[in-house]
Amino acid sequence: MLWGAKMKKIKIGVLGGYRGTSMISYCKKADNAEIVAICDKSPEVLEAQKERAEGYDITFYDNFDEFIEHDMDAVVLANYANEHAPFAIKAMKKGKHVFSEVLPVQTMKEAVELIEAVEETGMIYAYGENYCFMPAPYEMKKLYGEGKIGEIEYAECEYIHNCAPIWHALTYGEKDHWRNNMYSTFYCTHSLGPIIHATGLRPVSVVGFESSNNHRGIKGGNKSGSFAVEMVTLENGALIKSIHGGLYVDSIWFSMYGSKGRMECGREVPDSGRIRKIYIKSDEIAEAYKITEESYEPKRELDEQGGNFGHGGSDFYVMWNFAEKIKGNPEADIIDVYEAIDMFLPGILGYRSILNGNIPIDIPNLRDKKARDEWRNDTACTIPEVAGDMLLPTCATGTPEIEDEIYDRMKKLWEEECEKKDGSYRASTFKQGMRKKN
Ligand SMILES: NC(=O)c1ccc[n+]([C@@H]2O[C@H](COP(=O)([O-])OP(=O)(O)OC[C@H]3O[C@@H](n4cnc5c(N)ncnc54)[C@H](O)[C@@H]3O)[C@@H](O)[C@H]2O)c1
Repeated sequence: MLWGAKMKKIKIGVLGGYRGTSMISYCKKADNAEIVAICDKSPEVLEAQKERAEGYDITFYDNFDEFIEHDMDAVVLANYANEHAPFAIKAMKKGKHVFSEVLPVQTMKEAVELIEAVEETGMIYAYGENYCFMPAPYEMKKLYGEGKIGEIEYAECEYIHNCAPIWHALTYGEKDHWRNNMYSTFYCTHSLGPIIHATGLRPVSVVGFESSNNHRGIKGGNKSGSFAVEMVTLENGALIKSIHGGLYVDSIWFSMYGSKGRMECGREVPDSGRIRKIYIKSDEIAEAYKITEESYEPKRELDEQGGNFGHGGSDFYVMWNFAEKIKGNPEADIIDVYEAIDMFLPGILGYRSILNGNIPIDIPNLRDKKARDEWRNDTACTIPEVAGDMLLPTCATGTPEIEDEIYDRMKKLWEEECEKKDGSYRASTFKQGMRKKN
């Protein structure tokens, strides 16, 4: 039996019915949570969720301010990736615990505000960086904690996703969609996150680099550099090379070198199964310097229940831990607000490094209240309404001009695909193709 299974289920509401489908599915099957409310401003998405709601007591909303008043313990934020913080703050101030999809904030100002909202309200904030909970990266966390490779000295991490073939399904031809307007280092926590979660160490400095070659992206309306690299220094002096974005061939890969050995996972997309395999060479498993490699597929207690969820089962584990944390299970492993911000600052400040000629930028420790003052009015980002007079270009060479025709073509492609797949536009809003790939 699961920990706390006899206790009441945590009542959860989900904002955003595309990616949110994963968390809704979790709540429908879970022993420790139930879905009670869904909010999406898109009538098509709401309608499609209603069609799947038979047998469940779910209230539907198209407006966040009404949704947040619903009788529930917690909310999942699966809305636009650059808009999580304002909703998280509102929700915590209404007494709801928060599970936030990636990314946690859009600006340094929001980072300060989010941390302060968690401190003031005392609500639980869990960052949904599921890549930390994939089978091999999670095993790396366990092994690192046991000292199997000694102290970390160097790591490499990759999240390469060529989204060009599915860009229409990710952005629906919306010119203002966040995916079209972000900068290259924004989506950084799928790669960097697992190293931070495994070691528990804080990044202290970053140098960013971006690819200016974006011919695949421009064809779909994406205005950022196609991929980025951050060289990050951790508080113990270890170096990390983190790469993420759209190269031609997909890859998810994590490798850590320590003072006594090395461990890494297989390099591939999660569905290939290689993210389930770990390879370790260490003095701990062989005589010193006669290092032999050991490899195996780590197993977890709840794999039977959660192993088939998306992203190598990690979509199950992030939600399970969130619900357990609320229930008070001391074993629950979540990414709290400080760790979430640690994972994201190398992205936000890595872009400052790029815009300033790849100079090193110090990463503040926002746990320190005094360190917050320098950043609390910093609204720099690529979205004009949020940035005000601190607007940044979407790549170091400037924001490219993209003709409306490109977005019209993406919209048409998306609509055609919907017709083809499901025979109706409305029922196809779950983006089957995207869910499989993302
Ligand atoms: N962790 C992962 O592996 C993973 C995978 C895919 C997406 N994501 C994340 O999930 C989030 C959502 O991405 P997505 O691909 O589903 O697509 P999306 O961002 O295009 O869709 C978000 C949904 O939220 C709804 N929405 C947005 N603002 C709203 C508001 N103010 N009120 C009501 N509804 C609102 C939209 O109508 C849409 O249905 C993003 O943060 C993304 O980064 C994470």
